[in-house]
Amino acid sequence: CGVVGYIGEKQVAPILIEGLSKLEYRGYDSAGVAILDGTEIKVRKYKGRMSILEEHLKEENIKGTLGIGHTRWATHGEPSDRNSHPHTNCSGSIALIHNGIIENYMKLKEWLIEINGDHFKSETDSEVIAHLIDYFYEGDLLDAVYKAIDKMEGAYAIGVICKDEPDKIIAVRKDSPLIVGIGENENFIASDIPALLKYTRNMYLIENDEVVLLTKDGIKIFNELRQIVKREVLKVTWDAQAAEKEGYTHFMMKEINEQPKGVHDTLHRRLDKEGNIVLDGIKITKEDLEKINKIYIVACGTAYHAGLVGKYAIEKFAKIPVEIDIASEFRYRDPFIDENTLFIAVSQSGETLDTLAALREAKRKGARILSIVNVVGSSVSRESDDVFYTWAGPEIAVASTKAYTTQLVSMYLVALHMAVTKGMLTDVQYKTYMEELKAIPEKIKKILGNTEKIQQLADAQFNNENVFYIGRGVDVAVAYEGSLKLKEISYIHSEAIAAGELKHGTIALVEQDRLIVALATQDKLYDKMLSNIQEVRARGAYVIAVAKEGNKEIEKVADKVIYIPDTLDELTPILSVIPLQIFSYYIAVARGCDVDKPKNLAKSVTVE
Ligand code: G6P
Repeated sequence: CGVVGYIGEKQVAPILIEGLSKLEYRGYDSAGVAILDGTEIKVRKYKGRMSILEEHLKEENIKGTLGIGHTRWATHGEPSDRNSHPHTNCSGSIALIHNGIIENYMKLKEWLIEINGDHFKSETDSEVIAHLIDYFYEGDLLDAVYKAIDKMEGAYAIGVICKDEPDKIIAVRKDSPLIVGIGENENFIASDIPALLKYTRNMYLIENDEVVLLTKDGIKIFNELRQIVKREVLKVTWDAQAAEKEGYTHFMMKEINEQPKGVHDTLHRRLDKEGNIVLDGIKITKEDLEKINKIYIVACGTAYHAGLVGKYAIEKFAKIPVEIDIASEFRYRDPFIDENTLFIAVSQSGETLDTLAALREAKRKGARILSIVNVVGSSVSRESDDVFYTWAGPEIAVASTKAYTTQLVSMYLVALHMAVTKGMLTDVQYKTYMEELKAIPEKIKKILGNTEKIQQLADAQFNNENVFYIGRGVDVAVAYEGSLKLKEISYIHSEAIAAGELKHGTIALVEQDRLIVALATQDKLYDKMLSNIQEVRARGAYVIAVAKEGNKEIEKVADKVIYIPDTLDELTPILSVIPLQIFSYYIAVARGCDVDKPKNLAKSVTVE
C-alpha cells in the first residue's frame, strides 16, 4: 500500500492525488482520501484504480488544506469501497491511513467490541487502529497514538488526522517505509520519495518506532520513549523525469529499453581506470572472505531469480558454497547460520518485508549482511553491513526488467570480486570475463534493435492458456524468470522446469500444440537440450527456442528460434532474458492486459 499526507496552505486534494499517482505501484485495488473541510473530515474512497477517486474529487471539489491519502493492496478484506482507506472512528472525528499488517488485530477488535459494541464498518485490520486511537483519545492526539501503538503488534506506517486538532498530522513507522517531506509553510508524509518530488527535495527518512508530529511550519520526530530525536535532512538529487514514460506506451517497454544503460552504469561505476573492480560499499577484506564458509542468497520474485544466477556465478568463480532461499520461507526452516556466514539480500525496492525479515533473522544469528539493492537509503540497504547498489534508476512497471538485469551484473561483479580477492582467477580469466561483461550493453542493444520477430511470435501465440519454459544449467534460472514475466502480465498459466526433470512428471502435460519455450544457450548442454526439444516435439509441442547466434542445428528441431549474440556461457542470462521480456510484453498487449499494473500484484510488497 502507499500512504501520503499534507498539511499547509494549499488545496490538499490535488496534492494527495499527485502523490498517490506516484505511489500506485505499491497497490491499486482501491484509493481514498480524508480531507478536513471546515470542521468536518470528508472521507472519499473507491474500489478500483485511482482515476475513479480522481474523477469523484474533481466533481465534488472538496476544500481543505489538511489531508491524507491511500492506495491499497488488499491483505485483510477484499478490495471494496468499505475496506478502502482512510478508516475512521465511529464519530468520524479521527481518520487514518495504514500500510502494513496488524498481527493482533483480531484480539484488539474483540476487546474493543466488548467495551464499545460492534461499530466496525470493514473487515480490515487497519480500521481497528482508528478505533483504538479513539479509545485512548482524551484531547491529545499524539498521546492517544502512542497509547495505541503500544497495544499493536505487526508492521505499520500510519498517518492520522483529527478534526479537533486541525493543525497536525501524526505519523508512525514500524517496519513499513515512511518519509517526511519538508516544505515552506507546508509539510508532507509519504511511503516513498517519488510521491513528493514535485513539491520538495528535502526529506527526513523516518526510522522504526518513531512517531512524527507534523504541523504546517514544524516537524518533530520522537522515539519510542517520546524523546525528540535529531535527523539529518536528506537532499534528493535524482531526476523526477526518470519516472515518466517519455513517449513509450508502457513503463515496462521503456524500462526494457533502458537496460543497456542500466547494465552499463552498474558496471562502469565499479571500474577504476585500469578496469579493476572497486566496490565502495563493500568492505569485506581478504581475511573476512577466507572465514566465510557459506553464503545464503535470499530474495523474492524476480530478485530471487537473479539470486539463482548469483549462486552459479559465486560457486563457479569464487568457489564458496551458496544456498539460495525464498525469503518468506527462510526464517521458518531454522537455517544454519553463524559468524562465518555471509547473507546476501537481493531487492529492487529494498522494502520487501519478507526479505527484510529474513535479513534480520540472519543478522540476529551473527551473519554478515551484504545487500544488492536498487533504491538508495531503503530499509534493506540501511540494515546491511555492505551495500551494492544496482544503478537501474526508478523502476515503475510491476514486472521487473531492468532491475533484474542490473542485479545480474551486480551478482557477477560481486562473484568476480570475491574470486579475485581470494586469488581464484588467473589474470587472463579475469580479463576475459570483464571484457565480455563490458560488451553486454551493446549486445542488449542489438537484441532491442530487432524485436519484430519476437512480436510476431507473440501475436501468433497470445491465445495459449498454458506455457512451459525449459532449460539446463543457468538457463533454468532464466526459464523461471521468463515464465514469471509471462504469468505476471498476461495471466497465462506458465511453469518453468529443468529440462532434464521434464521426463519425471511434467511431460505428462505435453500435448498437441502445447507451447514450450526452450532455452539452449549453454555450449556444454546444447546437445542435451536438442534431445529434450525432440522429446517434447515428438508429443506434439510447439517449440520456440532461444540459442546463441551461430548454433544453427537447433533450427532442425525447434519450430522457431530466437538468437541472442554470442557470449560466455556464464553470462548468457543477461542476454537471453531480454527476448523473453519482450515476448511476454507483446503477449500481454495482444491480450489487452494492463501491462504496467497487473491484477492482484504490487511492485513493492511491504507485508509478510
Ligand atoms: C513483488 C513484485 C515482484 C518483485 C518482488 C520482490 O512481488 O511484484 O516483481 O520481484 O516483489 O521485490 P523487491 O523489491 O524485493 O525486488
